[in-house]
Amino acid sequence: MSRAVGRALRLTLLVRLEPVEITDLLWSIAPDGNRDQVSAQEVLAALRKRGQRRAARIVSRFPTRDGALDPAYVDALAVRVHCELQRLGEELQFGRRVAALLTPLVEELRHRATSPVTIVDVGCGLGYVIRSLAARREFGDGVELLGVDRNPILAEQATRLSQAEDLQCRFVFGDALAPGGAIEQSIQIKDLRFRQFFRRIQ
Ligand SMILES: C[S@@+](CC[C@H](N)C(=O)[O-])C[C@H]1O[C@@H](n2cnc3c(N)ncnc32)[C@H](O)[C@@H]1O
Repeated sequence: MSRAVGRALRLTLLVRLEPVEITDLLWSIAPDGNRDQVSAQEVLAALRKRGQRRAARIVSRFPTRDGALDPAYVDALAVRVHCELQRLGEELQFGRRVAALLTPLVEELRHRATSPVTIVDVGCGLGYVIRSLAARREFGDGVELLGVDRNPILAEQATRLSQAEDLQCRFVFGDALAPGGAIEQSIQIKDLRFRQFFRRIQ
């Protein structure tokens, strides 16, 4: 391989864009929950720019209205996809696995914490893991269960399901990584060290 070709290849690799999840492009939702139209052409351009041809082919079949993706269609699709994720979660017993992982941590925190312990599922989708923990009453009283998702359709459906199942847990809409966002507004973070840690990961 000539030096020039090698340099060109290195440059190509350097400018190569990271792939995106299709679902990250299908909604445009402001922090207050207001929704903007999403241009099908812009979604297709973003996918093609990253070489995600199969994803672009899938999106090119979505129904549109005046060039914008049909919101009813993408919402129904989100729920369908997440029902499938829930089915996988049930099969792989995610709820039981997460409970086993968290139990020692929760016990430790219960002894040390001055405020109630809250378990937060970031990007909870339909909230299967949190609902499963609530249904099993895994941690008893004094442990709050919260799911956060930046897609309001999913947060709403998770709330609806938890109410239908009469579960002690709650779900909120918001970007979990936004400073001062959904998580900080939903729980008390009294421990200063944890607050600093939490700011760092945001
Ligand atoms: C692949 S889905 C997984 C859903 C769920 N955890 C499950 O296993 O069924 C990822 C979810 O994370 C949510 N999400 C991604 N980034 C987020 C963020 N910064 N804050 C809140 N939710 C986020 C998306 O809206 C989506 O519902």
